[in-house]
Parts: sequence; structure tokens; C-alpha cells
Amino acid sequence: MAGIGISGQMHSSVFLDRSGEVIRPALLWCDGRTTAECAEITVKAGGEEKLKEWVCNPALEGFTLPKVLWLRNHEPAAFERLATVLLAKDYIRYRLTGEFATEPSDASGTLMFDPARLRWSEPLLAAVGIDARLLPPVGGSADILGRTTRAIAALTGLPEGTPVVGGGADNACGAAGVGVVRPGEAVASWGTSGTVLAPTAAPLVDPGLRAHTFCHVLPGVWYLMGVMLTAGGAFKWYRDQFARDCAGQPDASLRLNEEAATVARGADGVVFLPYLQGERTPYRDAAMRGAFLGISAAHGRAHLTRAVLEGIAFGLRDSLAILQGLGLAPDHLLLTGGGAGSPFVRQLLAEIFGLPVQRVDREEGGAYGAALLAAVGAGAFPDLPAAAAATLTRSPLQHPAAEGSAAYEPLYRRFRAATAAARPELLGGAGGGAASH
Ligand code: XUL
Repeated sequence: MAGIGISGQMHSSVFLDRSGEVIRPALLWCDGRTTAECAEITVKAGGEEKLKEWVCNPALEGFTLPKVLWLRNHEPAAFERLATVLLAKDYIRYRLTGEFATEPSDASGTLMFDPARLRWSEPLLAAVGIDARLLPPVGGSADILGRTTRAIAALTGLPEGTPVVGGGADNACGAAGVGVVRPGEAVASWGTSGTVLAPTAAPLVDPGLRAHTFCHVLPGVWYLMGVMLTAGGAFKWYRDQFARDCAGQPDASLRLNEEAATVARGADGVVFLPYLQGERTPYRDAAMRGAFLGISAAHGRAHLTRAVLEGIAFGLRDSLAILQGLGLAPDHLLLTGGGAGSPFVRQLLAEIFGLPVQRVDREEGGAYGAALLAAVGAGAFPDLPAAAAATLTRSPLQHPAAEGSAAYEPLYRRFRAATAAARPELLGGAGGGAASH
């Protein structure tokens, strides 16, 4: 009994021509070039209320549909050749099996799929003039949607005919990989991006459209998710630019975390705003930029390091606060992503969230969720919750220190005030997004 599960970054557009050749490099989830196309979509749809009704989400730069329109507007010759648009993991499927297919968790991140009705959105595609034949069929995340070809078997050593299941978006698989598949729970991911995701029993839409509404990899479950564009990405930038003495060392992040732990909560007044590539939640502003504030000659690198880690955690709290405001009130959070491997980061998140946090005994994150989907598809388990329950063990809850949570309340308010005071003039914000938080 064997199967392959696939997962990958969301929203990335792989453009293929009629012969299945890649037309140009894919535009990734963090690409912010499509602000004009987002406005075009919103106008052609007849406003955000229509987008809410048709696709449960606003037009945001990172999503796939704006990128398709960007290709049409900026590279008409390439658009002329366009025959198929795939998500990143679905291109892997195509290479493995020769099949074009996707599944609801990734389809719902394209802005072309109706997460409530589980089908490509005819009204939106018609409004923007995009042919639905560019899009692949949608199957189930744990259903077998293809089998490895003979050519792939020769290339990889995988047996020919191995089943490949639908798989899922990295955030959905990341949640599944720590067993967060049912409403009532939540997971925070500290990867390159940072997300806070809570499953729901119906497609719940944030009235302010600050958080995204997507399909989970378990049929009949959706989720609401806040997204920071640079979480671990901001830390990596900081490490690469300001900690060159640690460069290339496997424990570089750990050493910086230890350095940060020598400084008191609040980094002696230094605030880091982590908006290095604009921000989705809560600001919806691709032009927003980051900052260090409050630096004096008394500060050293450890203060800046602590401020960077705190700024990322405060950004995640912004997302958690939105979910809580919409009635999703988890009493603890599962943690996933590279950052969650650090005990310092886990304690920081517990204190800044004001909630206990927990991990599982697997480190693979989204890849593990994809493997669980493959196990279900291959018949090893009846469904995803059973697969997660049978194979994952949760760590004991890690509680925030009471004085830590109390100390971080005013510091979180200071972070919010610093962001508000610094934007849009200083942070480059175009004011194009609806900063309704
Ligand atoms: C989610 C998002 C990112 C990517 C990262 O909407 O854009 O979390 O999925 O790969």
C-alpha cells in the first residue's frame, strides 16, 4: 500500500502552453506586482461585496487571478500562448502523472474558485473575461487523481502506477500535519510567511476581508486564516544582513534567539515593524514597508534581534485577534513551521498570544499533512482525522508565564501604535488597501 501526497506554496501561477511547456517563470504567493489588476478585478466584479459573494475573498496581489490578468496586460504574447494555469504543487502532479488537476484547498486560493459552492466561479471568470478552460478539474484532496507514469518511474525510481492523491495547499497541509482539521482548534505557522489558521464548519467570511476564507483538505471543513507576508522571511533577512558572523552556521538562528533572550521583554524600547514585502493581514497593502523604531546608542544587536522576533509575533497576534473577534476562540494553539522549533520562539508566542501553545512529535509540517492525505487515499485510514489521531502525539501544553502575558499587553499596543504612526508616509503604504483593522 503506497501513495504520494503533494503540497506546495499557495497562489503560485505556473503558466503552460498547449504542449504543457512552461511559458515563463511562475509568479509566487509573495509577488506584489498586481495592484492594478486587483483594482481591475474589483471594478469588473462590481465591488468587493460581489467578490465576497462569489469567491469569499478580496482581490489581493498574491492570489492567482490577478497574476493571470497581469500576464494578459503586460505580456500579451505569452498570454496568447496560455493554455493551462496550475498551482505549484499541481505542476508537480502534472510532471508525475501527466494529469491536470487540483483540489479545493489550493483552488480556493486562486480567487477563481467559489469555496462555498466548491466550483470554479463562473460569474467572476465571466466578469474578468478569463476562459474556464484554462483551469484544471477539481478533485478531492485525499482522492487519487493520477498515477506515476513509466517515464517518471524511470527518472525517479518510484514504481510506475503509484497513486498520487489531490494533496493540498501548504497551509492546509501544515494544519493537517499537526492534526488541526476540525473546528474549535487553531494553528500558528512561523515559516517564511506567518499564518494563523482556524478551521470552520462553514465558509465564514471576515466582514473586513482582512483574513482569507479557504477550503481545508477535509471535505466539509473550511478555514479562516490571517497571513503575514514576512515572518521567518523577516528573520532570515535580519540574520543575513546583521548577523554575518553566524552566516552559514547550522545553529545561527538558535544563537540569535539565545542573544535575544538576554534582553528584557520589549527590547528596551526597540520596535520592529515586519512589513518587508507589504502586508496582507490586517492591512491589505502591498506597498507597506518595515522599520526599526526607538533605537538609541545604548542598544546593541541583541535588542534588535529581540525586537525582530517580537515584531513577527505581534504580527501573528494581529491575525489571531481578527479570528478571535469573529468568534473563533481557541483555548490553545498548535505551532508549526521552522520558527516553532525554537523554545524561545514558542515561549514568546505563548506570552504574546496569551494562550498555551503545543507541538506534535513530527517535524515535517505540510509534507506530513500531504503524507496523511496519501495514506487516506491509499486506504490505510478511513479519513484524515483518523490518520492524524493514529500517527500524531501532541506535546504537553506550554503555558505563558503570567507576568509575560501581562507585560506584553502594553507592548502589543505600542507595536500597533508604532505601525499606525509610521504609515503610510514612512512605511511606503500606497493606501491602496483597506486598512480597516
Ligand atoms: C497564504 C500564503 C503563504 C504561502 C506560503 O495565503 O500566501 O502562506 O502559502 O507558501
